[in-house]
Amino acid sequence: MYSFSSRLIRWQKQHGRHDLPWQRADAYHVWLSEIMLQQTQVATVIPYYLRFIASYPTLTALADASEEQVLAHWSGLGYYARGRNLHRTAKIIVEKHRGEFPREFEQIIELPGIGRSTAAAICALAYHERHAILDGNVKRVLARYCGISGSPSVKFVEAQLWQQAETLLPQSDIASYIQAQMDLGATLCTRSKPKCGECPVRSDCVAFQSGRVNELPASRSRKNVPERHTTFLLLMHCNDILLEKRPGSGIWGGLWCPPQFDDEVAARDWFLRNGMDASHGERLETFSHIFTHFKLHITPLKIQLARKPLRAAEAGSVWLNEGEALRAAIPTPVRSVLKKICRATPSKLY
Ligand code: ADE
Repeated sequence: MYSFSSRLIRWQKQHGRHDLPWQRADAYHVWLSEIMLQQTQVATVIPYYLRFIASYPTLTALADASEEQVLAHWSGLGYYARGRNLHRTAKIIVEKHRGEFPREFEQIIELPGIGRSTAAAICALAYHERHAILDGNVKRVLARYCGISGSPSVKFVEAQLWQQAETLLPQSDIASYIQAQMDLGATLCTRSKPKCGECPVRSDCVAFQSGRVNELPASRSRKNVPERHTTFLLLMHCNDILLEKRPGSGIWGGLWCPPQFDDEVAARDWFLRNGMDASHGERLETFSHIFTHFKLHITPLKIQLARKPLRAAEAGSVWLNEGEALRAAIPTPVRSVLKKICRATPSKLY
């Protein structure tokens, strides 16, 4: 029987994806695409990727941009630490590597936002070097093919998967093999309703042969997803809204959001303490946003101000009109609220 890798490579040539915009690109473009693809599906990434490279065709162009501009391009893609690290890394490469993306795995893995699997994907896809990857899709493929039980989020299970990933590596054609693993995981060996009938390795896939495809990989216990509540204070004056820049490196660090409070009472307190004068206020429907580790329930409180307060905007806050706000670096829930209250037309978004 042909090896796991040779069957995958042959399958990839016939059935894999060959026209993704970052394929056969240089290390800068491969790196950018791999960062975008870390938590986000291909179909969502493609338009972001194309807009990004149109604005920043080279690594130096990216390093020369402001973090604000980079985050505005990232707006809506989520996990904003990726955008901040991307920008930091571009600056580091300009300073330390004269703007040339480094060639060595050990140098690449040192860069912010690049873990073992991403460094390996860059080395394999851009430089055709022999390194194993292990992203979410590959964990699923290998857990099933090798029959590894236990959740891949458990360190010991993950270590077994890495070991298999290393063992199964082919001696040559590494880029096709890496792409094959990604494509198989995304198109056939999917989490639900996998298409085992079309799979090139089903004849010795432990999960398939033992009827355990739906049990593997074991899902991490998701019993108590914490839930949090927050109130967005939407201060409006005519068509302008007040946004504040979130500090530091938190989940929305560096992004623009309306003033945010634990509850409505705290929001009203702040409003009154700041001597603001409302002509009209309404509570909008609460909606939820799901993060990896918790669920956030957001209640927007929309207040139409009679006059613009004299002391706003302070440092770190701005009044923006609808178009400006939608083009700024804002997270998805803020975009949804803005669209709801402004009835923005999609063509104004970018
Ligand atoms: N997921 C992560 N990297 C990918 C790539 N290069 N192509 C398709 N999907 C991916």
